[in-house]
Amino acid sequence: MKNIFVTGGAGYIGSHISKELLDKHYSVLVYDNLQKGHRKAVDSRAVFIGGDLSDAKRLDKVFKEHKIDAVIHLAADSLVEESVKNPEKYWKNNVENGKILLDVMAKNKVRKIVFSSSAAVYGEPEKIPIREEDKLKPINPYGKTKLEFEKILQKKEKTHNISFISLRYFNAAGADPSGKIGEDHKPETHLIPIVLQVALGKRDHVNIYGTDYNTKDGTCIRDYIHVTDLAIAHIAALKSLDKGSSIYNLGSEKGYSVEEVIETARKVTGKPIRAIAAARRSNDPPILIASSKKIKKELKWKPKYGELAVIIKTAWKWHKNHPNGFEE
Ligand code: UFG
Repeated sequence: MKNIFVTGGAGYIGSHISKELLDKHYSVLVYDNLQKGHRKAVDSRAVFIGGDLSDAKRLDKVFKEHKIDAVIHLAADSLVEESVKNPEKYWKNNVENGKILLDVMAKNKVRKIVFSSSAAVYGEPEKIPIREEDKLKPINPYGKTKLEFEKILQKKEKTHNISFISLRYFNAAGADPSGKIGEDHKPETHLIPIVLQVALGKRDHVNIYGTDYNTKDGTCIRDYIHVTDLAIAHIAALKSLDKGSSIYNLGSEKGYSVEEVIETARKVTGKPIRAIAAARRSNDPPILIASSKKIKKELKWKPKYGELAVIIKTAWKWHKNHPNGFEE
């Protein structure tokens, strides 16, 4: 299996997966509509095709003109708050467009897919760490669309013999150690890039959304996973597709509070980083920590950049060198 079609390959996670694949001598075809992705994030060794998943004709043409052995499907909308305001957009882009991709795959006899799912499928977990067999009760439209697509994959496995691996990401963070690619969302909503923008002087302060949670310091706890570790897991997933379908959590099994993230960023950057207590963000689960036992055991995956300080150090290298992201 050599030729990988990466939807959303110009995005934050997609660009890191593409780089990792190319470093491991896979051929990469990136398909991205560049609504949120960046052309400059696409490695020069990859083939880039601009296009939208809703364009079934174009997609089919691409599948006919290129040799494709497997698909990594990341193209999606992924902002929880936006999904609450505009659920139809999320349904169309994350579910309906995904179905178009699966139909084109089946038509062209491509039967392997790694899907970018999310911890959001669990909603507010009853137990920590969260295991794959725990209750799936998404609390926002974003999480619902990710769960719905997992169900569609399970059906397609039976009806069209498609093998899938669904990876439920926890909090992807950090940047490629080269410092050449990294996170660049506009607008930025994620904690670590916002904290580093304060360190750079691009923002005055970071808001801490909620200081009254039932956690050790009152702030929310998340499981941050380095984006390169996440990329490496996709390659392990691709290799395992011959053995059949499965679903894995992808986190580091360690939880850090918002306060701890800010304090670690102060140490890494040497900057004071002003933080202000603010109201809770709606729909924020207090604690999300993955059990990653299943992926470690079955795919022999283990994080290389598990330490929060290392995650922030790599992100800092990217942000310091690219204060305006890919725009320069
Ligand atoms: N936070 C702040 N201040 C900020 C930004 C975030 O205090 O300015 C807090 C949030 O309240 C949360 C934590 O920092 O407790 C992490 O927030 P992020 O926005 O960085 O990440 P989320 O955990 O909200 O989101 C992650 C993924 C999303 C995905 C979601 C699903 O990044 O893509 O999990 O649960 F949709």
